[in-house]
Amino acid sequence: MEKIKKIGILTAGGDCPGLNAAIRAVSKPAIVKHGIEVVGISSGFLGLIEKDYIQITEERLSGILTLGGTILGTSREKPFKKKSFYFQEIEKPQVIKQNYEELGLDCLVCLGGNGTMKTAYKLSKLGLNVIGLPKTIDNDIWGTDVSFGFDSAVSIATDAIDRLHTTANSHRRIMVIEVMGHKAGWIALHSGIAGGGDIILLPEIEYREEAIADFIIKRSEKKHGSTIVVVAEGIRKPERMNAGRYISNVISGLTKMETRVTVLGYIQRGGTPSATDRIIATRYGTAALDLILNRDFGKMVALQNDQIVTIDLEQVEGKLKLVTPDHKLVMSARSMGTSFGEKERT
Ligand code: F6P
Repeated sequence: MEKIKKIGILTAGGDCPGLNAAIRAVSKPAIVKHGIEVVGISSGFLGLIEKDYIQITEERLSGILTLGGTILGTSREKPFKKKSFYFQEIEKPQVIKQNYEELGLDCLVCLGGNGTMKTAYKLSKLGLNVIGLPKTIDNDIWGTDVSFGFDSAVSIATDAIDRLHTTANSHRRIMVIEVMGHKAGWIALHSGIAGGGDIILLPEIEYREEAIADFIIKRSEKKHGSTIVVVAEGIRKPERMNAGRYISNVISGLTKMETRVTVLGYIQRGGTPSATDRIIATRYGTAALDLILNRDFGKMVALQNDQIVTIDLEQVEGKLKLVTPDHKLVMSARSMGTSFGEKERT
């Protein structure tokens, strides 16, 4: 089998803690153990279009395990997405293929979420050798139990919920916190349980405004001075309205109780990766290199039941992994008396 000489690596989509740990896990053994040249591509797929690269060296990798964000930068560039006809539409995928060949890459390693896996798959159909690593705080990538970035986001959100309990109790208020997750409710579900949320609202479980109010009123009648409501940003809500603010307005309107809202936002994507995310990123990066050395391309590395597996990108692209209403964590939360905002089951 022909020796692998040179690989490119890029980070695309929303950033998250753990990206640098993954870059390090692919690059360090490649450089040190196998003498492979590693090219860092800036700003996701944009860097391959604009020829914006850096040489990754062992020195450059020093200290990045614990560093948040991505040393390569990222973008949401979607090369296969046609722009409006106002723009002179260069054939971006062809430019990427040309630059990939000009660089003399044996493989392109793509760290990203659903959109990135979709682009990686389409590039593989154009003849590029690609490997995908599942990255996103949303944890909504089909085929893997967990993406890196998720554990850090859940820890950050849980810490925020812990802090809201003390101020909610002091003021005997209803505290609404909106967390990220795009169309999935994984962050809300995990942080809601870990943080002791009284109500958890998920995009995947239809809620009713009146049921939320009834639950809160019943709690106040039992002398629970405060209620914590954890809201996933992707729940049903009026167009162009922020989920957390909408739910806060609904609650104060229906219960006439003091209500406040916190939109946690990008804090969930910042800072150093959790130990768990550093380990997941390291496992994914080293597994990706094994695939490359075996020339086993067109795959995404994944974790299933804590075992590293590989999934054809063809099976991943275009799918979302969403919370199921009968998920074991939903059942556990229900056992604890947590409300998901549904009509009370009589
Ligand atoms: O996919 C990660 C994520 O943080 C989502 O949870 C969130 O909805 C989205 O990115 C925000 O996108 P942007 O970073 O482009 O504002």
